[in-house]
Amino acid sequence: MKNILILFILVTIINAFPLTCSEAVTMAECKDIINGIHECIWYENTCQLKSCQNSQIPCDGLAYKGELCATSIQGCKSVKSCSEIDNQQSCSLVKPYGIECHWEDSCIVKNCTHNSQSSCRQTNGVKCIYQDQQCSSIKQCSDIIEKSSCLQSLIPEINCIWIDNQCVAQTCNLIPTKENCFNTRRNSEKCFFTQNKDQDNQCLSCSQLTEQCRCNQYSIFGCHWLNNSCQEFKLQLACSTEDEQQCVSDKQCVWYKPMNKCLTIESASLNDRACDIYVFGSILHIWILVVLIVFW
Ligand SMILES: *[C@@H]1O[C@H](CO)[C@@H](O)[C@H](O)[C@H]1NC(C)=O
Ligand SMILES: *[C@@H]1O[C@H](CO)[C@@H](O)[C@H](O)[C@H]1NC(C)=O
Repeated sequence: MKNILILFILVTIINAFPLTCSEAVTMAECKDIINGIHECIWYENTCQLKSCQNSQIPCDGLAYKGELCATSIQGCKSVKSCSEIDNQQSCSLVKPYGIECHWEDSCIVKNCTHNSQSSCRQTNGVKCIYQDQQCSSIKQCSDIIEKSSCLQSLIPEINCIWIDNQCVAQTCNLIPTKENCFNTRRNSEKCFFTQNKDQDNQCLSCSQLTEQCRCNQYSIFGCHWLNNSCQEFKLQLACSTEDEQQCVSDKQCVWYKPMNKCLTIESASLNDRACDIYVFGSILHIWILVVLIVFW
């Protein structure tokens, strides 16, 4: 009985104060409310959720109602891309969806070439290096023109090598000996040594086989012909069918009912474990509730 009374008093107290912006009727009340992460603002004689549109400038980089704000000629406005920003200062400060912008007569998406030598660094997810007197983007080995940069591991998952004054992707066929070939990976592919009866054996990877029949010859190394190229069979590609019959016909796959999906046995059992933990958590939750209700 006492508990219910306390609860009643609490609810009454809480109800006496406005909790949401629209419940406030005076400017003072409006200023007092901070509703969760949202602030209220007194705008055009009503109390409103704070937004870019009803905020004061400067507002560069502030965010309200899930929108990013930038100062503009018309006042504060919400922006979704660099091109919506209309002045140099805001262009350098505001990053719509994390994208860096650059001012060049208008506000555009920044790329490597916009950096100076001292500020040459990764820009909008692209690696940049300073070479040939400018900051340039490197996406593949052949974009690198200096030997020293070529040999640093600058591009994720790609090994570059300097040959004939050029930076090229290091491929399995550049590995001369059988011993070094096996157990080596190049550009996320396994290398293997071919086993022809005639003498021209060499170190290769699936993607270097350009003919379907040769590709199929090396299926024991995981090569298979797909989409006009020879690709290495990866486990993620396995069990990707959406057909239940086809799925279960493959020994390494199971049809996973909770997701209605074909999965490898390994990933299905991982999912099962996550599921068990979830069910256990829910049962515990219900028990705590029951205990509270009965004994409180
Ligand atoms: C970088 O932006 C400029 C415009 O300032 C554009 O001309 C150039 O093509 C862009 N470079 C890259 C690599 O996207
Ligand atoms: C096949 O290649 C094309 C062009 O390279 C690509 O757009 C497509 O996604 C590829 N399909 C598969 C299944 O890999």
